[in-house]
Amino acid sequence: MDKKPAQPQLIQLPKIFDPRGNLSFVESKQHIPFTIKRTYWVYDVPGGEIRGSHAFRTEQEFIIALSGSFEVVLHNGQQEQTFFLNRSYYGLYVPELHWRTMQNFSTNALALVLSSTVYDADDYIRSFPDFITARNEAE
Ligand code: TYD
Repeated sequence: MDKKPAQPQLIQLPKIFDPRGNLSFVESKQHIPFTIKRTYWVYDVPGGEIRGSHAFRTEQEFIIALSGSFEVVLHNGQQEQTFFLNRSYYGLYVPELHWRTMQNFSTNALALVLSSTVYDADDYIRSFPDFITARNEAE
């Protein structure tokens, strides 16, 4: 049997207050439970657009609203949870095998995604029924 996927988690990052401007950072295996292999970002999202709506077989992610705000909706095969991200000093850990949608982007929202894998189209599950099947197999 496969290993059961972990739980999503909001993770607070270090914040170094400074009158010259604040600074935050994230380190692999220190603040997030995986090694970062790739970073990508989503920006210039027109009002009302939805990104994502897929799951990953193995990829884990950590999502930060570097600027602006948006929602991340996660489905674990049984229930859905919505997380609102609007600060650059915390983020959402998304374990593998979660159906993930990003929506309600504010003007100038910048979503930074740290990923545990390099880009691999074969890791995507793009059909919700296929996701439910894969998730049930992992439970
Ligand atoms: P995708 O992950 O499907 O974004 P969304 O689900 O929000 O539409 O990525 C969109 C396109 O970008 C897709 O054709 C693949 C490409 N892409 C890469 O080439 N490398 C990457 O690291 C990512 C995330 C996407």
